[in-house]
This record gives sequence, structure tokens and C-alpha cells, in this order.
Amino acid sequence: MVIIPAARTDVATPACAGVQRSSLPFTAPYLLAPMEGVTEPCFRDLVLARNAATALGGAFTEFVRVSGVPTPHHVLQRHLGPQRFDAPVGLQLMGSDLAKLAATAQSAVECGAPLIDLNFGCPAKGALRGCAGSALLRDPAALERVVRAVVLALPATPVTAKIRAGYDDASRVEELARAAEAGGAVLLTVHCRTRAEAYRDEVDWTRIARAVAAVSIPVCGNGSVKTHADLQRMRDETGCAFVMVGRGALANPWIFSGARVSRSEAARFLLDYADAMRTRAQFPAGGILARLKQLFRYWTAGELFAEHERRAWLQQRDGVGLLARLESYARSERGTGPAGPNRPAPSGENSS
Ligand SMILES: Cc1cc2nc3c(=O)[nH]c(=O)nc-3n(C[C@H](O)[C@H](O)[C@H](O)COP(=O)(O)O)c2cc1C
Repeated sequence: MVIIPAARTDVATPACAGVQRSSLPFTAPYLLAPMEGVTEPCFRDLVLARNAATALGGAFTEFVRVSGVPTPHHVLQRHLGPQRFDAPVGLQLMGSDLAKLAATAQSAVECGAPLIDLNFGCPAKGALRGCAGSALLRDPAALERVVRAVVLALPATPVTAKIRAGYDDASRVEELARAAEAGGAVLLTVHCRTRAEAYRDEVDWTRIARAVAAVSIPVCGNGSVKTHADLQRMRDETGCAFVMVGRGALANPWIFSGARVSRSEAARFLLDYADAMRTRAQFPAGGILARLKQLFRYWTAGELFAEHERRAWLQQRDGVGLLARLESYARSERGTGPAGPNRPAPSGENSS
């Protein structure tokens, strides 16, 4: 088990004195990244349930775009989902209108969000047009104002920020990190790619180390963590207190615990996911198949298929046949069992 250094997790806001003194609620230093179109409650809950809370310390919703009006409660509740686990799920907001962001953040807390994360990394054109997401990486002072507005609105709830290493280049990563800290963020996640680098394969973790050196709040490193061993390696190489995993968890949802699962367990995860999408979220059959294929782009867990078979799995059009095949895999072997459940909180069900 990896222990979070106590001094780094119970961190008061230094540069925004008197504004916020909230400690972080994470149960372990490894976190599931916010991913639009992926980390909605069906997928997220399965990952939380299959990794012990001592391995997976928290997760995030997909970003919630705050533009025209403060986001209504029912939308926030849909993102938070009905289940609660020992490990908290932060609600991520993206926007640049200070009043609407602050009002939405307050609504999110009323809906049960244990922490609010602010998105300063989204490279999509819509975000840039609205001067939100990674657009704010060009203006550290504006980024600081956004963080401060939300921090001031939430005196008792931790506010965290997620940045990329820069807009066109990483030359200002320290300045951006300091801006988030000065605004009152209690944790800073640094996705080590710049906006211009999008999702390219090569990454430079020294940018995370530079952010760690620049601020006194804990930093969460992010970018190209592909194996369980990479989690600790990123902490060792950069000094970051937390590590966030994005696509590595789509390849292997057990990456946090490091459990080696059987083909049967891998198939069971995908069947449970399909079932949750159908029964809990009323996804149409085509939507379920598309979401499963989104995982197949990355999937490695349980050696469900060989690399040369990936294309065939991605081209599968027969959803019924695919589920039948997964069902036969799920029944074929006894599983080795995950490392332990991330126990739903006692009062958890339907608590939002
Ligand atoms: C499909 C997809 C959707 C994403 N959506 C979000 C999002 O809603 N909010 C956010 O801050 N980052 C988002 N990201 C970025 C991830 O959180 C993460 O920073 C990025 O994937 C790098 O980590 P990785 O190399 O471990 O995947 C998304 C990434 C992917 C692949």
C-alpha cells in the first residue's frame, strides 16, 4: 500500500489567507482522471468498485461546461451519479464567467460534491471560443481569478485545479502553477502535455517536477501513466504527491491496485459496463457498442484479445454477438479476484 505523506494532503491554502482551509478527501495518492464521454457514473463506479480505496484514492466527473446560466441541479446530480464510495468523486467545472462558475460550484456542493475541480486543459475549439479550458493557460492572472472566485464561494469545500503544462509551450508552467496556488487551489494537477501537443505519445515529466518545485500545495502528475509501476515511478521522478491516470485506466481499470485479472474478470467488467449503460443510463444499443469500442481502442486487461485482433474488435458491428462472446469468456474461467473492493459508503446508495 502506498501511503500519502500526511504533510502533503492536509494542506491549507497559503497564498489566499483566510479564504479556505480545506484538506483533501482522497483515500490514496492515485486518482482516476476526468474524461468526457468516459467517466460518467456507469464506468466510473465500476472502476471505483474494482479497486480498493487504499489503491484508488478518488475520481472526477467529466467536465461540466458552465456557460449561459448556472448549471441546474439535475445536471450536476446526473454527473455525480447515485452511488458513493469511500474514495470521493470530485465534480469538474469548466468556464470563465466568474459569477456563474461560483453559483454552479455552490449548487454542486448542495448536490453532494465533496470537492470541485476546475478545468484549465480542455483544448476543444468550443472551450477556446468561450475563453475557457486551455484558453486560460495564456493568461495566468485570469486563471487565478477563476480559481479565487470559486474558492471564495466555497469556504468549506476543497477546490482543485487541473492545467496542461502550457498553451503553445511549457515555458510558463511555474507561473501557471503559482497562479492556481495564489487563487486558493488546494491541489494542482499538471497534465504534462501542452495544448499544442494534444495527446501525443512522447511526454516530458520534468514539467511536473518544475511545477512541484514552484508551489507548496500538493501537485498531482498526469500524462502517459500506462502501468501500475509507472504510478510510483512518476512520484519518484517528479516529487508529485498524487498521480492521475487517464487512458491507462481505459486499457486496464485495475491499474491502480495492480491486480492481474483473468480474461473472465475482464469480460465481466465489460458486461457489467454494458449492463449499467442499458439499465441505469438507458443508453441505446448503438451507444453501448460505441462506448465498449472506446475501451477496446486501449484495452489490455486480462489479455482479452491479442494486439493483432484489436482491429477486428473495433470493427465489430454485431453488438449482440459481441456480448455473447464476452459472456462465454466470463463463464469460461474462474477469476483471480480484484485486490479488494472500493466499498460503497454505508449511506451511499442514492445519496445525491
Ligand atoms: C476521451 C478523453 C476525454 C477527456 N476529458 C477530459 C475532461 O473532461 N476534463 C479534463 O480535465 N481532462 C480531460 N481529458 C484529459 C485527461 O484527464 C488526461 O489529462 C489526459 O488523458 C492525459 O492523461 P493520460 O496520458 O493518462 O491519458 C480527457 C482525455 C480523454 C482521452
